[in-house]
Amino acid sequence: MWSGRFREPLDARFEEWQRSFGFDWQLLPQEIAASKAHASVLAAAGMLTAAECAQVRDGLDAVLAECWDGPRRSTLASDSRAEDVHHFAELELTERIGELALKLHTGRSRNEQIATDLRLYVREQAANAQQLLRGWALALIEQAEVAGDAIMPAYTHLQRAEPVLVAHWLLAYVSMIERDISRLTDLSARLNYCPLGSGAIAGATLALDRTIASRELGFTAPTANSMDATSDRDFLVEFLQALSTIALHTSRFAEEITLFATAEFGFVALPESFSTGSSAMPQKMNPDLTELVRGRTGRMHGAVAAVTMQLKGLPLAYNKDLQEMQPVLFDAVTSLLPLLELLASFTQKSKFRLEPMEKAAQSGFLNAMAAATYLSHRGVPFRRAHHIIGEAVRLALDKGCELDGLTLDELRQLSSAFAEDFYASITLAATVDCHDVIGGTARARVHEAVASAKVRLTAAPALLRDRELEAAGVRS
Ligand code: ARG
Repeated sequence: MWSGRFREPLDARFEEWQRSFGFDWQLLPQEIAASKAHASVLAAAGMLTAAECAQVRDGLDAVLAECWDGPRRSTLASDSRAEDVHHFAELELTERIGELALKLHTGRSRNEQIATDLRLYVREQAANAQQLLRGWALALIEQAEVAGDAIMPAYTHLQRAEPVLVAHWLLAYVSMIERDISRLTDLSARLNYCPLGSGAIAGATLALDRTIASRELGFTAPTANSMDATSDRDFLVEFLQALSTIALHTSRFAEEITLFATAEFGFVALPESFSTGSSAMPQKMNPDLTELVRGRTGRMHGAVAAVTMQLKGLPLAYNKDLQEMQPVLFDAVTSLLPLLELLASFTQKSKFRLEPMEKAAQSGFLNAMAAATYLSHRGVPFRRAHHIIGEAVRLALDKGCELDGLTLDELRQLSSAFAEDFYASITLAATVDCHDVIGGTARARVHEAVASAKVRLTAAPALLRDRELEAAGVRS
């Protein structure tokens, strides 16, 4: 591709070592799509005839059909001829259409090509991640529907705090997922500008109509500055940050499930099909899936650290250091996306043990706040009410009962505001229902929240319209 000015051959070990085809072969569909678009740009500029353009584009399609959709895909990475995916596409095209293939590199540089390929790749993987997140959210919503009005203790400081609906707890994760989805939408819009035509650093050396490629590839517009376009990898940083935030959320869920699956909690029965045994202890069933999910978060954060470190202090514009980000990117994508798919199935198959959950919410004075609120309704200032209920708890602890085990006489010794209706206001149902605010755990609020989450996540528009993807010719 570039050996003209060299007299000495490359050191064979160096040549082998600096190649990127061992990983950037994964960008072949994007490389082909971008090359087809560039052929059309060249044709519009009069550098290729219409017939030549068609021949190049058909040739590129044939490369993709054979090497990606066909039998060669499994051995692609070990192809030892190509330095990188751009070189590979050119070699393959040359084998098919001869000299004409060499015209395709007119007015372009690998620097703009890799910038384009990576943007297309991230855009597509962001959409895939959104699809998978949606799947996981729907599995959580399904469990929320199964749980109905079942109640569980909610924890602050990992101490029982107040009762909540199991569905309310599950929907907390749905909220996180919705933010994750929107983060991916944001970053996909920001990256969606086409670097083609930026040349090596200063812009193409031919007067190319950059809007042609931009449109064909489903980008919003051509990038504004050629130096930035060929060296910018902010979109990778943002994407990896978004993936690592997703991993944070999966990890928090995984930790709660791991905890809830212990005999001490007994809140969830792990699906056998997603658990493992112990080679030593015959009785064991281990939550390996949630443990690995939790552990994988470290790798995702490592990816962010790696790319930010690689980018820091790089002078403009292209530097080969940028190539080093690709293995990190591919590893992050293949680490997280299949995990999301597994997590959806795991969530679907987990059995929440609603009875023990509800039983756990019935003791430990989880209705103390509701009890204090009862007194507030009867005119007692909340600070005083808090103190009175504190005394009632003390009394109940001494007596070995819950608040509803105290007699009205005992209560009235603490405050004359207590009346017979106190007992009805501290039942489990009343305790959840008193949180009747937007985002609260009152049963009616949660039913509403489950229904609206379902509508949002079923109807959420795909990040990119199918039409755009089709136009881009990008396939996974
Ligand atoms: N494989 C290279 C990369 O991923 C492509 C760009 C090469 N550009 C260059 N000037 N050597 O970064």
